[in-house]
Amino acid sequence: MSTILVTGGAGYIGSHTCIELIRAGYDPVIFDNFSNSKPAVLARLNRITKRNIPFVAGDIRVKEQLEAVFDAYSIDAVINFAGLKAVGESVQKPLEYYDNNVNGARVLLSVMKERKCFNFVFSSSATVYGEPDSVPLTENSPVKRANSPYGQTKVDIEFMAEELQKAVPDFSMILLRYFNPVGAHDSGLIGEDPRGIPNNLMPYLTQVAVGKLPHLNIFGNDYPTPDGTCIRDYIHVVDLARGHVAALEHCMNRSGVHIYNLGTGIGYSVLDMVKAFSKAIGRELPYRFAPRRPGDVVQCYADPSKARNELGWSAQKNLDEMAADSYNWQKNNPNGYDN
Ligand code: NAD
Ligand code: WQD
Repeated sequence: MSTILVTGGAGYIGSHTCIELIRAGYDPVIFDNFSNSKPAVLARLNRITKRNIPFVAGDIRVKEQLEAVFDAYSIDAVINFAGLKAVGESVQKPLEYYDNNVNGARVLLSVMKERKCFNFVFSSSATVYGEPDSVPLTENSPVKRANSPYGQTKVDIEFMAEELQKAVPDFSMILLRYFNPVGAHDSGLIGEDPRGIPNNLMPYLTQVAVGKLPHLNIFGNDYPTPDGTCIRDYIHVVDLARGHVAALEHCMNRSGVHIYNLGTGIGYSVLDMVKAFSKAIGRELPYRFAPRRPGDVVQCYADPSKARNELGWSAQKNLDEMAADSYNWQKNNPNGYDN
């Protein structure tokens, strides 16, 4: 079976994807520098999968470290989750974001080219659509200049992959545009473990639920939406992980540029999320309305039909499962991974 190098595989989405890769018969090799994850995730993954998943410590910006992995394993494809992802931090530290994300992807692609490993799966984002002209978003919706350095690294890496594919047509560039990943594995052993106070809605909700934070601040209730709060396409991380497997199965060794939206196609408001979460925990979750957050788009949700038609993949888990699994993870691990 095929061996898949999973860069950033110790992180939130990468760890869930390793489980689904194994379930589908692939052999993942995790490569991570733990800049935003903890070694403890590896033992948890081995416990869930009853396997000893190979792990290599390293940084995708360091060519020799990647070459050593290609020397040690016969890699058939790479899924690149390795990247920094905090929108606000990227505004403060743009050079770090360009270096880690864009330069990291450049070094990774150069080693892949050298080693004739032509299957590249990239964690892109709905952020490449900017403020949408209309929803739902299809893969043909315009890609816009992003409104943060983080978002722009996604746009730039997509372009770099497309340009490289033109120059080296053997490449299969699989660009997956995630909407809003939430939830956790139903074992409660792995999940999202942000550092400090969470920026994103779901980890903030889970921390309010376990009493680490007093209440949710809802950023704006005067948007032109039915309840005045912003609308997003939240997708369970296990569905998202399975989307990677479906994309690999369909696009591996099929040269070209393959772009897919990975979302559910359903838009939920912030208040919908609070309701679902309150249901999952069996009590009202405290919230307050606060001013709008600069840079927030009003609504963003996918048209996921291309992935359904071509990959045979669609999201299966509903909002209640997303809320219940997120809460289960947080409840079992109030302080996230211990080390
Ligand atoms: P995460 O921070 O949990 O995982 C990223 C992993 O990459 C971490 O384990 C980190 O230690 C590692 N890493 C970072 N830079 C590295 C480097 N230079 N070399 C080696 N390892 C490195 O984030 P996540 O939520 O799992 O996201 C994974 C990818 O998906 C990221 O590229 C992110 O931008 C993208 N994405 C995430 C979301 C989201 O909302 N979570 C949405 C769209 C796209
Ligand atoms: C969702 C909604 C907030 C927190 C971000 C990145 C995007 C992508 C995913 C990677 C918004 C509201 C949030 C809170 C709130 N990442 N909210 N109170 O902004 O859609 O996307 O993460 O590519 O690039 O921008 O996700 O979870 O931050 O916010 O009211 O404490 O929840 O205003 O409407 P977002 P989010």
